[in-house]
Amino acid sequence: YGTAKINEKDHLEIGGVDVVELAKEYGTPLYVYDVALIKERARGFKQTFEKLGVQAQVAYASKAFSSVAIFELMKMEGLSLDVVSGGELYTAIKAGYPRERIHFHGNNKSESELRMALEHEIGCIVVDNFLELHTLMKLTEEYKQNIDILIRVTPGIEAHTHDYILTGQEDSKFGFDLAGGQAEEALLMAKDSRYLNVLGLHCHIGSQIFETTGFVLAAKKIMEKLSSWKEQYGYSPSVLNLGGGFGIRYTEDDDPIEPAQYVEEIIREVKKQVEHLNLTMPEIWIEPGRSLVGDAGTTLYTVGSSKEVPNIRKYLAIDGGMSDNIRPALYDAKYEAVIANRINQPINETVSIAGKCCESGDMLIWDLPIAEASEGDILAVFCTGAYGYSMANNYNRLPRPAVIFVENGEAKLVIRKETYEDLVKLDLPYNN
Ligand code: LLP
Repeated sequence: YGTAKINEKDHLEIGGVDVVELAKEYGTPLYVYDVALIKERARGFKQTFEKLGVQAQVAYASKAFSSVAIFELMKMEGLSLDVVSGGELYTAIKAGYPRERIHFHGNNKSESELRMALEHEIGCIVVDNFLELHTLMKLTEEYKQNIDILIRVTPGIEAHTHDYILTGQEDSKFGFDLAGGQAEEALLMAKDSRYLNVLGLHCHIGSQIFETTGFVLAAKKIMEKLSSWKEQYGYSPSVLNLGGGFGIRYTEDDDPIEPAQYVEEIIREVKKQVEHLNLTMPEIWIEPGRSLVGDAGTTLYTVGSSKEVPNIRKYLAIDGGMSDNIRPALYDAKYEAVIANRINQPINETVSIAGKCCESGDMLIWDLPIAEASEGDILAVFCTGAYGYSMANNYNRLPRPAVIFVENGEAKLVIRKETYEDLVKLDLPYNN
């Protein structure tokens, strides 16, 4: 992926930096991001819209990986930013993100989070439910402040992905039901309110999706609804946000299409419906997370103990696990990995990579064909850039690893490793 290659020492190199050296300098586990690849992905989305001549905003779904540095990078790339909590919003403000390019999501935003959004005068709030709509009406009256909103709808699409990351089906905790009239009720309430400006609609059908069918169908269903709203209420949205969810290749069994192809097919459908239903072409917004940062991230680990279960399997343990990558335990997610300090050594073993957490389920990769490895070798696991650090935790009181950005032969520490002192800094004594 990206700038990854094998150098003359037979080591893995990313962004012109030898990762074995990085592991030595910063310790492991360590997340390494290929900045050039993130830029390439960001530009790819933007250029596709430009090529199609469609007004658009590409918002980085920051839940995939949020930190001041990645926000600064996305800001430089001219992307908008989707945040889903006060914490992500706070990080965005810290990173100096242009407020008007911040979009606020979430199915249970608290009143204080909404106040924070209004006080920072962010670009847009994606309203998810009636409680939020009421609270926002109350708060905007109090602040006497206008705010642009999108109404999040569930279009009733079953995308093919893991059940836990499906979000567009009717029976979902997110959004207003499109078919049953909730979305319509929300639209009318918002239109009647003094300070809310309904920019348009939002939907997100799920994550790690490999086909365009679901997106195309969602766009079609929404456009049909818009056509009836135009007739009944004279309402024409200026924005249609079709969410994120574009799949990436974690292993060679995955077969995603190019990011540009998702965009092209979505646009083709929207244009077709605009023409067919005689609507105005809305601005199209998307919110990719994984497809911007997923394959740009690699996690480095040091190999430790191993265990042979005769005639069954060999376990090789590494110095991280479900604390820095919970996806295998949570979603049965699959990854590929190599021994980064001896890349060209022949693959002559099948081992299962175990994490170091006290839990049998803490297995990073089952039955991985790999070069024979032992204590001290560096294992590089690919495609850990999305939902890796952002879902990292301190289970077993493991400190969260550092994050490094690499580009043009230079490495930059962008999140430092947690220390033991960090781990106890919120703890207060019981007996003093
Ligand atoms: N927009 C909305 C409203 C979302 O809920 C999400 C993801 C995205 C955009 C970005 O989706 P992406 O392009 O990254 O697929 N933790 C899970 C993924 C959860 C996705 C939640 N929402 C995982 O590790 O696979």
